[in-house]
Amino acid sequence: MLSSKPSVLIARPIFPEVVQRLSAHFDVSANPGDEAWTHDQFIARLQGKQGVFTTGGERIDARLLAACPDLRICANMAVGYNNFDVPAMTAAGVLATNAPDVLTETTADGGFALLMAAARRITEGEHYLRAGRWQHWSYDMLVGQDVHGSTLGIFGMGRIGQAIARRGALGFGMKVLYHNRTRLPADEEAAVRAEYVAKDELLRRADHVVLVLPMTPATRHYVGAPELALMKPTATLVNIGRGGVVDDAALAQALREGRIAAAGLDVFEGEPAVHPDLLACTNVALTPHIASASIPTRLAMANLAADNLIGYLLHGKALTPLNAVSRRA
Ligand code: GLV
Repeated sequence: MLSSKPSVLIARPIFPEVVQRLSAHFDVSANPGDEAWTHDQFIARLQGKQGVFTTGGERIDARLLAACPDLRICANMAVGYNNFDVPAMTAAGVLATNAPDVLTETTADGGFALLMAAARRITEGEHYLRAGRWQHWSYDMLVGQDVHGSTLGIFGMGRIGQAIARRGALGFGMKVLYHNRTRLPADEEAAVRAEYVAKDELLRRADHVVLVLPMTPATRHYVGAPELALMKPTATLVNIGRGGVVDDAALAQALREGRIAAAGLDVFEGEPAVHPDLLACTNVALTPHIASASIPTRLAMANLAADNLIGYLLHGKALTPLNAVSRRA
């Protein structure tokens, strides 16, 4: 007997309770073994599906859209959506949704943790200790940079950038500089106590630079050798935006040569591969794209993606749409 429920594919394993929620409304197909599908295998599994739950890595492009005529919504369990070709989705009448807001504070915590780890050489200290190199105390053992009272520079002043600014200004007494495509309205600037400056000025003045930029053609290698050359030799650089916003090879060279003091990276060009030169640097704290990875936040992100599928496929309205589409014929 044919089911009257819409069909949805969950592309990667997610919380069982979210699968259960979706199963109450949809005919759900999943990928419980976390098989690494090729693009063609993904397309094959999407046949006859009206919705897909993606987790940030699954590419939705024009070829897939043309090959999946039943598809009506792609719900990303991530705030970033560089895996979506949104214009192609709009042209095809397929709704794109992401998972903003619910991860803002957790991701800002994650970014701040990397900033602290890099500036205060926390992960470097742990490796030193685990390697049995801690034989005696010395006054200059693993001395780093102060975070409190220093100057924080933020590239990308969206919700997460603003949450980092608040932590810096209110929690750590930092002077906060920022640069963004568009300047914030004065009341929003005042709320996060941040000063808008040009890109080069930020790089020159900041003690700690945090990148919260999405990956777009305009942000590819936004920080490369020329930008690193402007930074203070005592400065740290943190990237929690997207891999590719920083030129990882140039960063590794700057770290190796001591042209900046340290870095903290959660995202990488070509991840999960990490540039071997970065792996060889001691003065960089490295985490595997986990800035939003607290249990409540990841669950909230998954539930928001599920809410978008349920809202759109059952009631014609998603909570966090990225495009406006007219219903696919
Ligand atoms: C994580 O990187 C996200 O975009 O949610």
